[in-house]
Amino acid sequence: MTKKRILTWIKATGNGMHLWNYFWAVKPLFDSDNWIDDIFVFLPDLHSLTSVHDWDTLRNNRSRLLCEFFALMPEKSDITVFEQSKITHINNITWLLSSVTPYSMMLRAHSFKDSQNKNSEINMATFNYPILMAADIISYDINIVPVWKDQKQHLEFARDIAGNFNKTYNTDIFTLPEPQIDETVMTIPWTDGRKMSKSYDNFIGIFDDEKTMKKKIMSIVTWSEWLDEPKNPETCNVFAIIKLFASSEKQSEIASKYQAGWYWYWHAKLELLEMILEYFKAPREKYELYSKNPEPIEQQIKEWNDVMNTVATEKYMTLKKLTGLE
Ligand code: TRP
Repeated sequence: MTKKRILTWIKATGNGMHLWNYFWAVKPLFDSDNWIDDIFVFLPDLHSLTSVHDWDTLRNNRSRLLCEFFALMPEKSDITVFEQSKITHINNITWLLSSVTPYSMMLRAHSFKDSQNKNSEINMATFNYPILMAADIISYDINIVPVWKDQKQHLEFARDIAGNFNKTYNTDIFTLPEPQIDETVMTIPWTDGRKMSKSYDNFIGIFDDEKTMKKKIMSIVTWSEWLDEPKNPETCNVFAIIKLFASSEKQSEIASKYQAGWYWYWHAKLELLEMILEYFKAPREKYELYSKNPEPIEQQIKEWNDVMNTVATEKYMTLKKLTGLE
């Protein structure tokens, strides 16, 4: 069986990695089945410039995110982590792709239309965003990109752009990437039953201090039965999150407490807090260490940046020959 190349990304939001980021984007990478594949994780820092125009914010977000990701990563893993802005020719490749990307297709992009609805003016980086994103994927012959549905259209664009280029130059230089949509994670509700997101402020941060975490958990929206009434675990947001952490025995134990009555949602919330702290105990300790001394992380990522830079540079050299630039 040929190995698949999987690409995923971690985004610096400034608020740190939350449960949804972890269960959706990070944990699947560490699950053993995936060792048959080559996994690449990158920080789209050039994409961050579409909205972040502040030196401190950009630097601090990056450092925090790297410490968090490395704290979560198992000691022995084959994952390559790299930074978009360290890829010398990524924007050169983006330019070549722009020249085969129809304007009419770009006008259909939900992402810039969403920003346009929020801001009276958008910048060109926001408009061109999907082309750089295509370059992020196809420069390294990626086969699969796990995506939440908000990125599905971007993946379709990446495929179309790769296909257009291949057709225009009568080549197969670009592999067409496939989106992978994980339906199970898509149904996980968060503190208010919606998708966990910075913009809704309903996330539970993995590296938050205990007090903040407790406050977030206590604010999870629940029903309002009387204490003595039986409660339904299957319609409860707290229980939905408990399921991510508890063994099946523990889950049925808690479910029967719900059903028996005389059990406050508040009790379930405290149990959940304990579970989260226990589950992330080691990463939380490692995070403290890395925050004080990020040197080992910096050395490692530099090595990986160089590896990926070499891959993209080779691709760009071939592209130059194909297009007639050389
Ligand atoms: N568009 C992604 C987001 O908003 C980030 C991203 C940039 C990305 N380039 C990518 C995702 C390439 C997957 C592949 O979160």
